[in-house]
Amino acid sequence: MLDDKDRIFTNVYGFQPWGIDAAMKRGDWDGTKELIAKAQDDIIEEVKASGLRGRGGAGFPTGLKWSFMPKESKDGRPSFLVINADESEPGSCKDREIIRHDPHKLIEGALIAGYAMRARAAYIYIRGEFIREAETLFAAVQEAYDKGFIGKNACGSGYDFDVFVHRGAGAYICGEETALLESLEGKKGQPRLKPPFPAGAGLYGCPTTVNNVESIAVVPTILRRGASWFAGIGREGNVGTKLFQISGHVEKPCVVEEAMGIPFRELIEKHAGGITGGWDNLLAVIPGGSSVPLVPAAEIIDAPMDFDGLKELGSGLGTAAVIVMDKSTDIVRAISRISYFYKHESCGQCTPCREGTGWMWRMMERLREGEAEVGDIDMLQEVTKQVEGHTICALGDAAAWPIQGLIRHFRPELERRIAAHKGEETLEAAE
Ligand SMILES: Cc1cc2nc3c(=O)[nH]c(=O)nc-3n(C[C@H](O)[C@H](O)[C@H](O)COP(=O)(O)O)c2cc1C
Ligand code: SF4
Repeated sequence: MLDDKDRIFTNVYGFQPWGIDAAMKRGDWDGTKELIAKAQDDIIEEVKASGLRGRGGAGFPTGLKWSFMPKESKDGRPSFLVINADESEPGSCKDREIIRHDPHKLIEGALIAGYAMRARAAYIYIRGEFIREAETLFAAVQEAYDKGFIGKNACGSGYDFDVFVHRGAGAYICGEETALLESLEGKKGQPRLKPPFPAGAGLYGCPTTVNNVESIAVVPTILRRGASWFAGIGREGNVGTKLFQISGHVEKPCVVEEAMGIPFRELIEKHAGGITGGWDNLLAVIPGGSSVPLVPAAEIIDAPMDFDGLKELGSGLGTAAVIVMDKSTDIVRAISRISYFYKHESCGQCTPCREGTGWMWRMMERLREGEAEVGDIDMLQEVTKQVEGHTICALGDAAAWPIQGLIRHFRPELERRIAAHKGEETLEAAE
């Protein structure tokens, strides 16, 4: 369990004010000038050494990503940092807590990360529905300008750095980094093929790095406390602290900062008050937000909650949005509802995603009622394979994986429903 002294987000529950004076008392903006007096590449090396992996879902090493940015502009193009605060994945609700209760961690992180990547400015793209969060963020950015921490000669460092907040209009797909950049430019928020990667040509065609809110907000503390401190929490390849968002059938749903790799049982017992009805009542868990495959109870109970531990179980840490389902859950209905979400959010550019998400959802609805043949389960599996990996962005995969997880672990339940439905039909015919 994470020691209190190792917590980064000390105001995640909003017990203290979010404003700059309270934030400074908590240690934010402390010696920032000295932090950005270091050479840019030294900061990148420190972040690499910390082992920080992106908190936006894919877990790509953050320092490595930063190192792809150009060291100097050969053609006069500026570089940009873009912070992804779209947070629309069902189950995910951590970035909003950072923004509304600890926004200065994010703004200070933006300055340090932006400086390290030689960026001219940071754009924070916040999802449209986060109205109060956006208000807080706008106000916090203004506070940082008023104190001279950002803007011209940020923190007295001689470095000029602006932070802009941009509100989205409320589309899940705008969380995908290239769609986000399109939307930020005022265009329709649709993903585009990579390459070119944003580090080569991103916002307004300029070198850009897109990072998640949590990835950026942890950076000031990592630099203050040292890479080895962060790297010493968790296990190799899966280090640091992590905001887990626990929802569903637990006694006390919560967002909590914990050590990466904490076993599932400990996470739930210590912070969420246990499973409703006790551990024997646990059915399955979606450990990383709606796009990752579910894991049945027996497999997850003692599993380490980190990137590699959950990958070994055929799932993923994703955003660490832990959705707990007890035995009262209609698991087929739950996954069908997720399928509906992806059908609704598909941007429609790629045929396998546009047609496949609708097809998969309709099939899931039939399976929910058992109105299908056993062979339809294999056909559904086959269709998920035709969507997975055959689309421009990962929304296609996100739509396929939950269904694959259901078939892998709950095929007998799907077959039971089909048999039960057939039984009802036979009974009706006999009457
Ligand atoms: C459909 C889709 C939606 C996404 N939504 C988000 C999101 O809301 N927030 C986020 O940080 N990343 C989201 N991502 C991942 C981003 O594309 C990108 O990988 C991430 O912001 C990188 O940040 P990181 O390296 O700090 O993890 C999404 C990806 C896809 C395919
Ligand atoms: S996979 Fe789906 S959401 Fe992504 S670009 Fe293609 S159609 Fe759009």
